[in-house]
Amino acid sequence: MIYQIYPRSFLDTTGDGVGDLAGITARLDYLRWLGVDAIWVSPFFRSPMADFGYDISDYCDVDPVFGTLADADRLIAGAHDAGIRVLLDWVPNHTSDQHPWFVDSRSSRRASKRDWYYWRDGRRSGTPNNWRAAFGGPAWTFDDATGQWYLHLFLPQQPDLNWGNREVVHAMHEVLRFWLDRDVDGFRIDVVHLIGKDPALPDQPAELGSVDRVGIHDDPRTHGLIREIRRLVDSYPGERVIVGEVNLHDTSAIRTYYGAGDELHMAFNFLPLATPWAAGDWRQVIGVVERDLGRDAWPTWVLSNHDSRRHRTRLGGSEAVSRAAAVLLLTLRGTPFLFQGEELGLEDAVVSPERRVDPGGRDGCRAPIPWTATPTHGWPTVDPWLPWPPHAEARNVQRERADPGAILHLYRRLLAVRRTSPALRHGDITLLDAPAAVLAFRRSTHEDQRVVLVNLGETEVEVHVDGRWDIVVSSDSAVDRWDGALRAGEAVILQPGAA
Ligand code: NOJ
Repeated sequence: MIYQIYPRSFLDTTGDGVGDLAGITARLDYLRWLGVDAIWVSPFFRSPMADFGYDISDYCDVDPVFGTLADADRLIAGAHDAGIRVLLDWVPNHTSDQHPWFVDSRSSRRASKRDWYYWRDGRRSGTPNNWRAAFGGPAWTFDDATGQWYLHLFLPQQPDLNWGNREVVHAMHEVLRFWLDRDVDGFRIDVVHLIGKDPALPDQPAELGSVDRVGIHDDPRTHGLIREIRRLVDSYPGERVIVGEVNLHDTSAIRTYYGAGDELHMAFNFLPLATPWAAGDWRQVIGVVERDLGRDAWPTWVLSNHDSRRHRTRLGGSEAVSRAAAVLLLTLRGTPFLFQGEELGLEDAVVSPERRVDPGGRDGCRAPIPWTATPTHGWPTVDPWLPWPPHAEARNVQRERADPGAILHLYRRLLAVRRTSPALRHGDITLLDAPAAVLAFRRSTHEDQRVVLVNLGETEVEVHVDGRWDIVVSSDSAVDRWDGALRAGEAVILQPGAA
């Protein structure tokens, strides 16, 4: 299981209202208690923060708002002492427009780094091609200084690097080495499917004219670039891992980014972010993932992250549904990713128009983590950079840790159960017949098996499972015996009963 930390919102230790690296280090004991194997930390590098850290102006330094390089070293060492691996968020497709590379590149057509980015003349119609940027508008900005356009698949403050230039490849490999030498265990790689590009930058087909480029860009050049990255990471001792964000909708296309075991170890699969809470839809998603990833590409499962509404909010806010979703997420075949605070059952904050800061409208899910029930919720200030999520007086670490019935304890129990069951860790998954509202599957290895039943409906339903079974965990903390029925919204893990 990999736990995503969005550092601005995890815990502030300085009183500026923004979380920092020392805040993460201070809570490693909590993460260990919860049962976290690895953390992925969203970008904390120097950044003008146009996209809150995904616009980097120095990959090899920590932004002062988050601390110092020494704080990063302390976090990495402290996590390792706690048995937690550390993945950094590496953003290879674009830099900040304030990065010295881009400052040089835009300074003149003859600048030494001109070709490190994509500069093109416009066409009579305007932009050099018809690509659209992720946050709206064309993917090109005209720069008066040199009379050409530059490419940015995200904000104009995030110019795309030209990975067709070997100097760029070399410079970005040096960034990986810098952090691997500081003993990080790997990287979550931001929109890695975008790095290879046809230098002709051809128009996308007219019928896709207004579709944002990020969801459809799939260029064969990317694979060779990822293989080089993989070789570099593999050349370091120990087990290092690369997880790529491949923001394509088609799972068989995502599959290609695992290569022949020589590209990504894992690629995100965002299907669940758009899957309604209905058994038929989930059966379909699991079927697609099993079919399209096959045996050799290890799946990933994500219900929430810093780019989407939290799943509790998305699925209607019910406690029962978020508990059942936890059982599902932590029993599927593949590596689950948790987004900080989902273990507390958090919903998105309601952010008034004056407090909105994100150009992509993603503030709600990025609300700060409430640690205590006090008015400042364990932060040094009452008023952090974003408002608190709803019900922070009850949904906070202190209260939930003290309440064995809280969703936090369900997550912890599920993680413990998963760790000790080979079937749940790496067994096969087989969908089972079940009543329409129920998602049922078996996880099995030679020596171990579990059955998972999730009632996605609103009424109690009887489910017949051959053989004798005991409950290992129920999403309903009052249930501890399998009696052949699932209450509305209940999910259970069963293990073979004593004969
Ligand atoms: C994906 C990241 O998850 C998102 O937060 C960011 O805005 C874009 N990539 C651009 O880096």
